[in-house]
Amino acid sequence: MSVEPERASQARIDEEYFQAALGRPLHEIYGILEPYLGSSGTAVDLGCGVGHAALFLLNKGYEVFAVDRSPAALEIVRGRLKPGHKATLVEADMSDWPIPEADVITAGFSLFFLKPGQLEPFWKRLTASLKPGGLFAGQFLGVRDEWAGESHAAMERETLEEMLTPYDVLYFEEAERKGKTVLDRPKYWHVFHVVARKRSV
Ligand SMILES: C[S@@+](CC[C@H](N)C(=O)[O-])C[C@H]1O[C@@H](n2cnc3c(N)ncnc32)[C@H](O)[C@@H]1O
Repeated sequence: MSVEPERASQARIDEEYFQAALGRPLHEIYGILEPYLGSSGTAVDLGCGVGHAALFLLNKGYEVFAVDRSPAALEIVRGRLKPGHKATLVEADMSDWPIPEADVITAGFSLFFLKPGQLEPFWKRLTASLKPGGLFAGQFLGVRDEWAGESHAAMERETLEEMLTPYDVLYFEEAERKGKTVLDRPKYWHVFHVVARKRSV
């Protein structure tokens, strides 16, 4: 099979997903993050999608690097920017993108698109890029999630707890339930929601 039809069909799936995601509200985790935020600084939104978190941080006064491998997603984010927003839109695969030093890093439902084996080294790099006292908010996939497997990085709770040792954990929720995808398809979810602050020492 040639690669091009595969790319075309992935682009169609992405387009359908991004249109549905546009109609969704900002995830509650950003309400949990909000009281810890400052009024300026550098933020990075990894796998920004249609930019809900990036826009939230831009509206808070942060300079934001919004990163996604999908040009269609970034075009949508571009259309949502307002005068005065300090945004840099980056089309890149986060796995090899050099993350700048940041006060805040968000990764909403995106880190688990890294392949198993990629996530732990990527997390070390992400942690190194966060300033001491810097904030992280995002999701990780648990091993019982329907997507856990060769193409999505999933983990045991203990592994995630170990990864979070350089952080003070401000919020940690393990959610496991039958639910739906953004495209309204049934799915079994096993997800960890995390807000954490990198320790100063
Ligand atoms: C489920 S969406 C989440 C979007 C957004 N963060 C949110 O919470 O609504 C995952 C996003 O991550 C992006 N993505 C997946 N793997 C990526 C990678 N390796 N590098 C950059 N972006 C990636 C996808 O294109 C998609 O926009």
